Amino acid sequence: MIIAIDGPAAAGKGTIAVKLAQHYGLNHLDTGLLYRAIGRLMTEQGLDLDDPEAAGAVARQLRPKDLAHADLRGREAGELASRVAVHPEVRAALVDFQRDFARTPPGAVLDGRDIGTAICPNADVKIFVTASPEVRARRRTDELNAKGRDVPYERILAEILERDERDSHRSAAPLRQADDAIRLDTTALDADAAFQAAVAIVEAGHE
Ligand code: DC
Repeated sequence: MIIAIDGPAAAGKGTIAVKLAQHYGLNHLDTGLLYRAIGRLMTEQGLDLDDPEAAGAVARQLRPKDLAHADLRGREAGELASRVAVHPEVRAALVDFQRDFARTPPGAVLDGRDIGTAICPNADVKIFVTASPEVRARRRTDELNAKGRDVPYERILAEILERDERDSHRSAAPLRQADDAIRLDTTALDADAAFQAAVAIVEAGHE
């Protein structure tokens, strides 16, 4: 079984993807990590993130060990990722790896922005996870505060809106709900309720 989960930043798709993979005994790939690692490598090498050729070259040389970098999950890496993700050269370099991962038995849950639309258009189940920008910003701010990082809510909200704008309006595989994806709005749901709703979608898709 292949489950495609797409949606904007901080909507809860990562948590849902991890739990679904555990629940159904599937592999899991957080595809955002690929773009984050490319952004990080380019910065370390002093390369221009807006240079499509340089970004494509780094993407083609990406190795699994690059995904283990310590601070790939932070805000800064997310911003770098969103910038390199606009280049068709980068996206093309990552397609085969993601499709091979999805096809490897027993199947997988992949989460990202273009899984249902571009990477796995024939996925068995497609879920588009979303939530209001305000609730997503509130969750991110609370997560950071819990780690002792005092970042103002307004700044997080502005970053989220900027990332939504860039991810949705780029020409290469923009963030978009696939026509056959089921929308899961987590605005009023906690993590457990969101997971239960995702399981219900998977079960309904397999009747
Ligand atoms: O899911 P995330 O926050 O880790 O993603 C970081 C950025 O990477 C996101 O803003 C856009 C890009 N991305 C993408 O373009 N396509 C994907 N499948 C996953 C992430």
